[in-house]
Amino acid sequence: MISIRFQFHFNFSQSKKTLIELSKNIADYLESLYDRDFVENYRKYIESYPNQYIRIDPFSDHQSLIERLKNYGIELEKTVLPFAYKVLKGSDKIGKTLEFTLGLYYVQSLSSMIPPHILNPTYNDLTLDLCAAPGSKTTQLAELMERKGTLIANEVNQQRVGSLNFNVDKMNLSCIGVMKQKGELISKTFDNFFDKILVDAPCSALGIVQKKNEVSNWWNLEQAEKIAEVQFKLLVSAIKAAKVGAEIIYSTCTLTIEENEFVLDKILKKYPVEIEEFDLPLKHVPGFTKFGEFENPKLALAKRIIPWDNDSEGFFVAKLRKKSETEPLVQSNYSKSHKIFFIHDHKFIKPYLNQLHEYFGIEKDILARFKYIQSRSDLLFVNKDWVVEENSYFIKLGLKLGVIDRKDKLNLHSDAARTFGKFATKNKIVIDSKEDLEIYLNGSTIKKELDALGQKIVEYEGMILGSAVQTKEGLKSQFPRNLRTNEILLQ
Ligand SMILES: C[S@@+](CC[C@H](N)C(=O)[O-])C[C@H]1O[C@@H](n2cnc3c(N)ncnc32)[C@H](O)[C@@H]1O
Repeated sequence: MISIRFQFHFNFSQSKKTLIELSKNIADYLESLYDRDFVENYRKYIESYPNQYIRIDPFSDHQSLIERLKNYGIELEKTVLPFAYKVLKGSDKIGKTLEFTLGLYYVQSLSSMIPPHILNPTYNDLTLDLCAAPGSKTTQLAELMERKGTLIANEVNQQRVGSLNFNVDKMNLSCIGVMKQKGELISKTFDNFFDKILVDAPCSALGIVQKKNEVSNWWNLEQAEKIAEVQFKLLVSAIKAAKVGAEIIYSTCTLTIEENEFVLDKILKKYPVEIEEFDLPLKHVPGFTKFGEFENPKLALAKRIIPWDNDSEGFFVAKLRKKSETEPLVQSNYSKSHKIFFIHDHKFIKPYLNQLHEYFGIEKDILARFKYIQSRSDLLFVNKDWVVEENSYFIKLGLKLGVIDRKDKLNLHSDAARTFGKFATKNKIVIDSKEDLEIYLNGSTIKKELDALGQKIVEYEGMILGSAVQTKEGLKSQFPRNLRTNEILLQ
């Protein structure tokens, strides 16, 4: 097995486990909420290795991917979720394969897959992921929507927006608009708008201490209560942004009652939403209905996932439905002057799409599955069912189609090559050796003479890698720089 080592950004390996000291604050808190046995189980849980799980697009061919991964020594086991697999062998390799780099699967904890699974949007649902980075659940929602429709992913933190954008590009999803906004204010832009909303709120993370061990150093109840105030505001905002009849999933990866049941209790008392029953395929317990002065029997409909019950993380999930109108916030002052979407046969975009049709042999009905956007000399594409035509809301919308050069020629972007490559019948090149593959993934030039110069779509073992340009020196890789941030193993 060859390994290409790029500058290392993302590390999914579990070769070293730092011993986590369970802080007195956490132990005392959990004992007051549960009992001493719970604390002992919690202590054992945080000292154990996290199990690894992967998620595969429910509409893709799972079996062939599972077979490919076997060649790396990776063995998977089915779980109760039809798109999720437990990594039995090879968890040190699971975040480093070529297939991982190309977004053919996503590494994510089993419990974290539950909130999108319960929301279960289709491409007909206008969908919002209010607290989206790094995009584990956004990318899952997009796959559930068959990569079509309108999915808005919002995140407030600039750095985390970067990882959200990275994952959206890597998973090659053209149904996502990324906003960078305080979630509390989203209804200024979208009031009474969405059919389905996920509020996977920031939280004090007691369910994921096994992975995020610094939590044990800072956790205290005052911090958790502060976060609960933000969670409440985020939920209010989601309710305002939802249509009457819309579904909202509220989830956290923490175990406190302050950030879960108390937040929902306040919401249920003040806002026109009802809590609903739902099927949760993992082992779980009902939400707390009584604690000290607090009492609300309806919260038995919320569900708590206790980490060691499922070999995964701790989560809290509740399903709400909006029952009647809410007061809007003051509308935003976004200038609404940036409607520059083009359908495939618009006179501006048609010549560029004709270039793709003639040069790569991509059928016009495939190109008609998308709408196109001009952003200076770049062209972007979103699926044709995208409905929000005000692109100034988004810091990223859809995927890059390519760049128009001085001769008015469209140079295809690697992300677009990955979307359209399987439909290309011309100017497609198959890399057939590991040596050439390594050069391509490094962004270098494969010394190879071809009859025709110009851009090519590059394939390896049936997978589209991206684009390249044939020059007199050879085939110059255009494999995106941001995908060259991890170590890639080649089987
Ligand atoms: C639990 S994480 C979300 C994880 C994400 N849903 C996923 O599955 O990858 C919560 C996110 O909310 C963001 N956040 C915190 N405060 C926020 C706010 N006021 N508005 C929007 N997002 C916020 C955090 O930066 C963080 O990325």
